[in-house]
Amino acid sequence: MPAPSPLPHLEWRPAVRHAKDRRSFLKSTTIAGTAITLSAMQYSRVYGANERLQIASVGTGGKGWSDLLGVAASPNVDVVGLCDIDSSAKHLGQAAEKFSSARQYDDWRRLLDESGDVQGVLVSTPDFMHAPISLPAMQLGKHVFCQKPLTHTVMEARQMRKAAKKHGVVTQMCNQIQSHSAYRTAVHLIHEGMIGKVKEVHSWQGGQPSWPRHIPRPSGNDPVPSHVRWDLWQGVAMERPYKIGMYHPFNWRGWQAYGTGQLGDFGCHILDPVFKALQIESPTKLTAEAPELMPETWTDRSTVRYEFPGTKYTAESTLPVTWYDAVGVSPPRERLGHIPVDAKLPGAGSVLVGEKGSLVIPHVAMPQLYMADQTLAENLPVISSVDHYTQWADACRGGAETTSHFDYAGPLTEAVLLGTIGIRFPGQELHWDTDSMQITNHAEAQRWITKPYRKGWEPAWV
Ligand SMILES: NC(=O)c1ccc[n+]([C@@H]2O[C@H](COP(=O)([O-])OP(=O)(O)OC[C@H]3O[C@@H](n4cnc5c(N)ncnc54)[C@H](O)[C@@H]3O)[C@@H](O)[C@H]2O)c1
Repeated sequence: MPAPSPLPHLEWRPAVRHAKDRRSFLKSTTIAGTAITLSAMQYSRVYGANERLQIASVGTGGKGWSDLLGVAASPNVDVVGLCDIDSSAKHLGQAAEKFSSARQYDDWRRLLDESGDVQGVLVSTPDFMHAPISLPAMQLGKHVFCQKPLTHTVMEARQMRKAAKKHGVVTQMCNQIQSHSAYRTAVHLIHEGMIGKVKEVHSWQGGQPSWPRHIPRPSGNDPVPSHVRWDLWQGVAMERPYKIGMYHPFNWRGWQAYGTGQLGDFGCHILDPVFKALQIESPTKLTAEAPELMPETWTDRSTVRYEFPGTKYTAESTLPVTWYDAVGVSPPRERLGHIPVDAKLPGAGSVLVGEKGSLVIPHVAMPQLYMADQTLAENLPVISSVDHYTQWADACRGGAETTSHFDYAGPLTEAVLLGTIGIRFPGQELHWDTDSMQITNHAEAQRWITKPYRKGWEPAWV
C-alpha cells in the first residue's frame, strides 16, 4: 500500500498561484497582506441603510443564473462583474443582457484582478472550481456566496472555513433549502424535543440522475465550440480533450475530476437539516458499500454508514447516520422506528428515529411526525421561510449572520466528501481524526483528502 501523500502545511502559501499572463493579479496577491487587511476592514464595517453592495458572479449559467437573480433581488445590490467561460445565450449571454452595465469576463482571475469595486463574489461553477476561486476572493477581502458542495476535497473544505475566519468575510453556501419553511420547521421540531432524543438517522436519494455514471472516458475529441473557453473551464483539473455533452455543461457531476457523484450532489441538501437539528459535525468512522468504481466516473449506487459523536440532541454517546443512493432506494422499513410499514416515504429525504417518535423530512416538503403509537401528529408548528440569497447580501451589509456560513458548511461538506472517499474503499471501515485531518487507519484513503492540481493552478491555501 503506498504511503499517504503529506498534506500541504496549512500555513503554506504558493509563491506563484496563477498563469504568467495574469501579472497584475499576481502583483495584487503578493501584496495581499496589506490589500486583504484593508478590504476586510472596509467591508466588515456596518453599512448605512442606503449603502449598496457591489457583487460579481462567476458562473452565470445553470444554477448560477438563479443565484445571481436571487442575490440581485436584494434592493441594495449592484451587479458590477460577470464571468463565464461560455459566452452563449444560456451562460454569459443572458446575464450580460440583464445586467448590461456589468463588466464581462471569461477568466475569473482577470475579474479578481480588476475587483477593486467588488465587495462580494458569487461562485456558481462546477464543484472542482469552488475553492480555487473562492479562496483568492476571500484573501482579497471579498464576501463569498458559494454553491454546494462547498468544495471538491476535504482539504479544500477545511481551507474555506479557515479562510473565511481569517479574513473576516461573510460567507454562505448555497444549500438554499435550509432556509425553506420545510427544513426550518424540521429543525425546530427536533430542537423542541418533539420526538425526544434521536437514536439513528437514515437519509436517501432515490432519484434517477441524468449525468454519466459508471462509464469509461470516451475516446477522441470534438471541436471546441467558439463560445466555450475549454482551457479555462478545466481550470485546476488535469487537461483532457473536449467532448460534446460529456462534461460542460452539467454532466461534469458524474466525473471524479470535476464532481462528487450523487452523495456530493445531494448530501449538502439532504443531510443539512440532520446536521442543523442535531448539531453534529465530524464523523469518527464510516464504511461504504458500493460497486467497484470505474477509474474516472462516480458510482450509480452507494450506502455510507457514518458514526458521529453524540450531542445534546442524541440518545447515545454516538449517533449512526446512514446515507443511501440508488434509483428507487429507500431505507429498510424495519429501521424506521415509529413509521408504519405501509406509510409512503418520499423519493428522497431523511428519517430521524427518536425516543418518543420519528420524523420524516422529505426533500423537499413539510416534515411528518409519527408519534410513539405510529399516528401522525397534527397541528404542528410551522416556521416560515427566509431568503437564503438576500440573507447573504444583507449580512454583507451588516445584517444578521448567515446560517450556512463556512464554519457550518465546511464540516458538513467534509462529512459528505469523507463519504465519497469511503465509496472508493467499499467494505472497509475508515477512522477519521478531524483535528489532525487524518484517516488514521488507511493510508491509501488518506491520499484522497486532497488531490494533485494542474501546474500553475495550485490553490491559494490559507
Ligand atoms: N443549490 C442547488 O439547488 C443547486 C442546483 C444545481 C446546481 N448546484 C450547484 O451549482 C454549481 C453549478 O452547477 P450547474 O448545474 O449550474 O452547472 P453547469 O455546468 O450547468 O453551469 C455552470 C456554469 O458555470 C460556467 N463555468 C464553468 N466553469 C467556469 C469557470 N471556471 N469560470 C466561469 N464560469 C464557469 C459554465 O459555463 C456555466 O454557465 C455546482 O456546484 C452544483 O453542485 C446547486
